[in-house]
Order: sequence, then structure tokens, then C-alpha cells
Amino acid sequence: MKVLQTIEEVKSFVAELRAKGETIGFVPTMGALHEGHISLVAKAVEDCGACIVSVFVNPTQFNDPKDLETYPRTLEADCALLKEAGVKAVFSPSVEEIYPEQDERTFEVGAVAEVMEGAYRPGHFQGVMQVVSKLFDIVEPDKAFFGEKDFQQIAVIRAMQKLLKSKVEVVACPIVREKSGLALSSRNQRLSQEERVIASNIYRVLQASQDLQGEKTPKELIQWVTDEINQIEPLRVEYFDIVNAENLSSVEAWSDAQAIRGCITVYCGEVRLIDNISYK
Ligand code: PAJ
Repeated sequence: MKVLQTIEEVKSFVAELRAKGETIGFVPTMGALHEGHISLVAKAVEDCGACIVSVFVNPTQFNDPKDLETYPRTLEADCALLKEAGVKAVFSPSVEEIYPEQDERTFEVGAVAEVMEGAYRPGHFQGVMQVVSKLFDIVEPDKAFFGEKDFQQIAVIRAMQKLLKSKVEVVACPIVREKSGLALSSRNQRLSQEERVIASNIYRVLQASQDLQGEKTPKELIQWVTDEINQIEPLRVEYFDIVNAENLSSVEAWSDAQAIRGCITVYCGEVRLIDNISYK
């Protein structure tokens, strides 16, 4: 497995793969890899001749400087996992390599980037689109793999792809969870043992809400989930919304959309956790 730092190195490696007729699968990450990330890599390795993974903590998507500073950086351990998973190359560039000058671009993708995470983390998705569009231009993959853990991120990237008329196929992969139900996240490392157990209530309540779908409207179910979770110390719901899975607009009735997701953000003490569930 190659570890590449520059855009030039990636481009020439990709050219070699293309000359051999390989299809290229790409998994963008910020490192601190866990089984959730590795599930995307496994899918890419299975689907494509060659898998390339980027490990880059993208400064433009952090709206909190402290969050950026404290984001875990574990490149050596990440590379060991990626090699084991059959990855052909890891791209771990410096900030200067990706942003030799400030990226002034904004992407007009509409409400998908402004609701939910977009509202609570201003600028976050613009930063995600900046880095993902650059990475797609560098790697030029056939397919790129993203986790449904960040359900809104996939919708935003699909909207960006449409805007840019990009041909990279976006593949959505299911959420990987701990046995307890807690969605795997690098942020889970910041939970104490006790908080980790408590945080598993988020998915427990989301699952229980699926069974209540027949008897409650989306609005009633939003209230029920919020109340159930807020009763459990130290959980605090930041938002929970039930949305059309395509365009992320809130639904009033279960018949409003073909596919419906409940998207939630909960603070467990200081740690911000996100999760989501499918209603149909
Ligand atoms: P990061 O948080 O490192 O996540 C990289 C990819 O792993 C994302 O597609 C994310 O949805 C997926 N992932 C994380 N936890 C998962 C889980 N428990 N199950 C399934 N997939 C999971 O998302 C980002 O980085 C960045 O925004 C990025 C796209 C790399 C742009 O900087």
C-alpha cells in the first residue's frame, strides 16, 4: 500500500491504475478510523479493482476551532487498518497541499445544506463540499463511498454532484453500530464508560419510534422521541426532524414522501452525537 502526500503523486498513481484498466473506488475520511469507515473501504474493495482512501482533517468544515484542534489524528494506526483491508493507496496531504490559497467557492445547493446540521453548524457543508470536490478532482474515481451515519452529508454531496455535473457515482453504505446500538463514531472515544451506555438509548428510542409510526403523526413522533431522550441524563436533544429522504424537507404526513428518515443530534454531556433511522 502506498502512502501519498502530494496531488502529483496521486495523479500519477491513478494514471498507472487507469493504464491497467482498473476501476477506482474512493473513500474520503478524516482518519481516526473505526469499523464504520472500514465497512466503506470493504465495499469499495469489493466493488472496484482499486481502492484509494484519503485521510485529511479538513479545516474548512469545522465551525469550532477547538473541535478542529482536538480532532484525533492517528495516521499510523489508520494505515495499518487500511493495508489490512486491501487498500491500494492512502492520500494524506498537508493543509497547504489542499488549500494553497483560501478556497472562496460556495456551492448553491439550496435547502439540503441549510436544514438540520446546516442550521446548527453554519458553513460546515460548504467546507465539506470544498474538500470533497477537490478530492474528486484529484482522484477522479468511478465511485465514491459514504456512510449513512452522516445521512445529510450524502444528500448534500449528491446535490453538489448535480450542480457540478460530476460523473462520480456516490454509493451510500449502511450505519455500523456497536452491539449496544450506538452508531460508531470517532467522537465516542470522548464518552466515559457510563456515558457510552447511556448514549445507546438514542438508538433504542429511535427504534421504538418505528413501532409507533402507525399511531402518531410525524409531528407527534418528533415530540415523543425528544421527550423520551431528554428524560435521560445527561442526554439533550439538539434537534430531531422527520424528513423526506431525498430533499430533507420536513414531512407533515407519512404519505408525503416515498422514503422518510428521522435525523437526530443529541448532546451526551459535552459530546455531540448524530444518528438517523429509516421510517419507510
Ligand atoms: P469522517 O467523519 O471521517 O467519515 C468518513 C466516512 O465514514 C463518512 O462517509 C461517514 O459517513 C462514514 N462513517 C462514519 N461513521 C460511520 C458508521 N458508524 N457507519 C457507517 N459509516 C460511517 O465524513 C467525513 O469524515 C468528512 O466530512 C469527509 C466526507 C471525509 C470530508 O472531509
